[in-house]
Amino acid sequence: MTQYRPEKADELIRTAQAMVAPGKGILAIDESNGTCNKRFEAVGIEPTETKRREYRELLLTTPDLQEYVSGAILYDETIRQSTADGKSFIDVMRDRGQVVGIKVDAGAKPLAAAPGEKVTEGLDGLRERIEEYYAMGARFAKWRAVITIGDDGRPTRGCIEANAHALARYAALCQEGGLVPIIEPEVLIDGDHDIATCERVTEEELNEVFHQLYHQNVMLEGVILKTSMVISGKGAANRAGVEEVADRTVETLLRTVPAALGGVVFLSGGQGVEESSAHLNAMHQRHGDRLPWPLTFSYARAIQEPALHYWKGEPGNVEEAQKRALKRAKFNGLASQGKYSPDMESA
Ligand code: 13P
Repeated sequence: MTQYRPEKADELIRTAQAMVAPGKGILAIDESNGTCNKRFEAVGIEPTETKRREYRELLLTTPDLQEYVSGAILYDETIRQSTADGKSFIDVMRDRGQVVGIKVDAGAKPLAAAPGEKVTEGLDGLRERIEEYYAMGARFAKWRAVITIGDDGRPTRGCIEANAHALARYAALCQEGGLVPIIEPEVLIDGDHDIATCERVTEEELNEVFHQLYHQNVMLEGVILKTSMVISGKGAANRAGVEEVADRTVETLLRTVPAALGGVVFLSGGQGVEESSAHLNAMHQRHGDRLPWPLTFSYARAIQEPALHYWKGEPGNVEEAQKRALKRAKFNGLASQGKYSPDMESA
């Protein structure tokens, strides 16, 4: 059987290409209200809808952000919000030539009969929600699955298969409705596992994801993979350095990700902001000529953190906070072309 082509195939391919245009990446600001509130409270910002709206306005209206950010992933609350002047966030993004994205999963919930593991929910009613978001102006979507490494046998095959299957069902529904699916199987950095363990788990997970995408007739040219890097656990002794992370990540992706895929982007997953730029940069410097797909960033914390910490919810801090967000976006845009250097951080 040859590749199934969804009705909106050409549009999906164009959207995917715009999302990973050279020198650009995707900004993730799709934290659920609960997660956003937690991050606000950690820096003393009131956890209210007003503050969440102000914060997303700050990020989306950052001057020149569109030079390095092709689009942003929004949350359901955010995609319905507007600037203080009454311009919808959707129009703000479109006027800057950015692609609007939307998180459509309903969160990772405990997987029955699998202690310590999760499966992402949200397939029920998804076709209708995709239709609504497409009509509003969204052109891509995100679904995040989480895979936990533990020395008690995690991840199990059952967890890997359940999550990969849900990702593939979600992806097929997105393509039917005209949204490019971002497929995000995140192998968590939590734990004291070594980098070889992360590599083995990432390889198994990605193989299963592409197996399930094939069986659900998903058109790979219109899919973006959002993956974690192959990296030592946060609590590991002797964590691997930048070059080893870059080498093992690229080797794992080359072994598992079909060349036809629209693009690959990374989450930052708890890495530091400078580390996130250095890792992406090293992949391009060391392996740039071997990559069959665009390889760039889709960070949340690694772009937002300096801005959030500076802003603190104060109107007088907006301008400087935006400069900090722009700096991370620019450095990651450079890293996606192998043109970043840690020396730039202090300049
Ligand atoms: P981080 O970059 O903070 O890991 O977030 C990316 C993301 O979208 C997680 O789903």
